[in-house]
Amino acid sequence: MTDAVRYSREGAIGLIEVVNPPVNALGQAVRAGISAAIRQGIADPDAKVLVIYGEGRTFMAGADIREFGKPPMPPILGEVINEIEACPKPTVAAIHGTALGGGLETALGCRFRVALKGSKVGLPEVKLGIIPGAGGTQRLPRVAGVANALEMITSGRHVPVEEALTLGIVDAVVDGTDVKAAGIAFARRVVDEGLDAPAVRDRDDKLAAARADRSIFEETRRKLARSMRGRMSPQKAVDAVEAAVDLAIDQGLKRERELITECMESSQRAGLVHAFFGEREVAKVPGMSKDVPVRPVKKAAVIGAGTMGGGIAMCFANAGIPVTVVETSQEALDRGLGRVRNNYDISARRGRYTPEQVDGLMALFTPALDLAAVAEADIVIEAVFESMDVKKEVFRKLDAVAKPGAVLATNTSYLDVDEIAAVTSRPADVLGMHFFSPANVMKLLEVVRGAKTADDALKTALEIGRKLGKVAVVAGVCDGFIGNRMLKTYKTQMDYVMEDGALPQEIDAAITGFGFPMGLYAMGDLAGLDIGYMTRRREDATRPADARYVAIADRLYELGRLGQKTGAGWYRYEDGRTPIPDPEVEAIILEESGKKGINRRAFGADEILTRALCALVNEGAKVLAEGIALRPVDIDMVWLFGYGFPAYEGGPMFWADRRGLDKVLADIRGFADHDPKSWQPAPLLVELAEAGRTFKEWSDAR
Ligand code: 3HC
Ligand code: NAI
Repeated sequence: MTDAVRYSREGAIGLIEVVNPPVNALGQAVRAGISAAIRQGIADPDAKVLVIYGEGRTFMAGADIREFGKPPMPPILGEVINEIEACPKPTVAAIHGTALGGGLETALGCRFRVALKGSKVGLPEVKLGIIPGAGGTQRLPRVAGVANALEMITSGRHVPVEEALTLGIVDAVVDGTDVKAAGIAFARRVVDEGLDAPAVRDRDDKLAAARADRSIFEETRRKLARSMRGRMSPQKAVDAVEAAVDLAIDQGLKRERELITECMESSQRAGLVHAFFGEREVAKVPGMSKDVPVRPVKKAAVIGAGTMGGGIAMCFANAGIPVTVVETSQEALDRGLGRVRNNYDISARRGRYTPEQVDGLMALFTPALDLAAVAEADIVIEAVFESMDVKKEVFRKLDAVAKPGAVLATNTSYLDVDEIAAVTSRPADVLGMHFFSPANVMKLLEVVRGAKTADDALKTALEIGRKLGKVAVVAGVCDGFIGNRMLKTYKTQMDYVMEDGALPQEIDAAITGFGFPMGLYAMGDLAGLDIGYMTRRREDATRPADARYVAIADRLYELGRLGQKTGAGWYRYEDGRTPIPDPEVEAIILEESGKKGINRRAFGADEILTRALCALVNEGAKVLAEGIALRPVDIDMVWLFGYGFPAYEGGPMFWADRRGLDKVLADIRGFADHDPKSWQPAPLLVELAEAGRTFKEWSDAR
């Protein structure tokens, strides 16, 4: 046996304990250990029943994801589970925490499953670009039926054990916190009451419905083609479950193995695993000691109850943190909190909250018209107009009224956090917390570290981000931080492509074809074209006279085409939200190209996409070299969680590493031949491409 699995016995019960913190992942040592422990249990003459459980906070949370992409290390999990299932003595899985992926598959190899209340089970493999590969697609339909298994496997949902009990996945749900005791108690019942159950592989009754009516498979495939557009593994999961219905179990297991192997080798798997670890990695700030304390946050305040302020305040309330909301007039305050209430009421109508819960949430908001009301807040987030003068005024006042040690954050999208911090007597407490719209929904939070921001203030902001359910990424101070700065470069390139020959719908089709949920211009219509217009007017004073300026968006604005809210923008909207290409827009584009004497040409989707991605990567390389992003993975997570970059591509920097930086550079140089001004290869990209290295290698070596 290995150190990762211990065998012991209490009376007639053989105990197999998995000890592989933090989540008892089923790495090679655990697999080998379980296999050895099963054999030891079989050989132990006094053991009548064997119980498998996990030490620490959870049952097994699945295969060890760090082993993906490496050569297989025997024994493979499927064989170990077959061994458990073939064990001549009854086996009991005692579940606490989460039994996920290979963890649930291990439990399904046992005769019985008992779970502590509050724990969860699931097969979340599709989220990693694979399918269950240790029998989950064959055994889950046998206990839960084909429809339930398809739903669970293709969604990857974590199912509460109370629901799993009704689905037939677990046999008992018990109170208590001691999983070993729960396992032993259940095993005693097996001995004393002679409880018996067939091995899951021998059960067939729940497959009958799908055998009689196979339409569920096509229907599921059709739905997934829409809801998981571009994703390979959910479709493969349906194939695997269908094999459970068509084939004998051993053939079904073999088919599952073939299908997971295809998924394992796919770039989607690589991208999604990068996303899994990336989401966790960004929480760790290189160079910051573990000993840096987090300041306690019990009360929050938000200044401004507009689009962003209301959403940010909701995040605090949702996390159970009381929040004071400050506005300049009673009317603005009523409007802002009215919108918040309305949002909660909509959620309540959808069944997410009871009316009492909505009242409870609203009770966490304290409206105020005087900034002095923030005096007790441990963190204050300013979300007033995007104007340096207004923000400075607010921070001067905050400095006078906020309590010592309060974290003072600005939600600015572009402005200089250091300049804002400088008007206070406590720049060490000042930083940016850049939420994305709608703030109560979007998962990204850029935490902007100013030149003087203290480590503990930064750590507190990151910790608050985590509590609010966000993926918080550290960014440095520059115009637009990580995300909006890169977005600007990419959008500028797409505007050039439009002026040179493509239509918005062609550009958007190239982008959504890659996997973004929305095109750039459809997204612009959603956000409103007035925001960009105002920004451009602010930039007029500083824009170099010889800069190429595409005026198409200004023309739309001047016609009152502000996007979805006016029924027209880059597209026309008949039902308020479905973009319809508009000949009027095409005429404006042709006219603007004509004014500059541009000989418009056709752009294929590939060229558009390559330009879009190269623009992102080139600017990303500059962001990295300047230290605005700490690592390439930080850029990737900004794009995944803030801008809809397809998770299965891993993010722009991961995409570039996989494509090969030499190829990316060659493309950029090709574009630069025609437009050297806007396509200057980032020095870091040139250096790495010429050395045959990747962004990740560069980052890991630092
Ligand atoms: N393999 C390797 N490492 C894992 C892991 C896994 N399956 N699951 C979690 N970890 C690591 C995390 O990376 C993290 O490492 P870090 O501390 O160095 O950053 C640490 O364990 C703790 O994880 P979390 O921070 O996510 O802890 P939480 O308590 O927030 O969440 C969890 C726990 C719900 C179990 C969550 O970690 C999770 O969802 N894990 C993945 C579960 C999963 O996808 N399982 C299926 C794997 S694929 C499979 O089983 C294939 C099979 O069919 C053959
Ligand atoms: P908004 O115009 O919807 O709301 C601003 C609110 O601030 C208004 O209700 C206004 O009455 C209030 N306000 C102004 N001065 C105030 C003061 N001195 N004290 C208290 N309240 C005051 O603006 P929005 O869109 O919410 O933007 C706010 C900030 O968030 C800006 O800095 C913006 O750049 C940033 N941001 C906006 C995003 C968006 O998509 N709208 C996304 C991310 C950041």
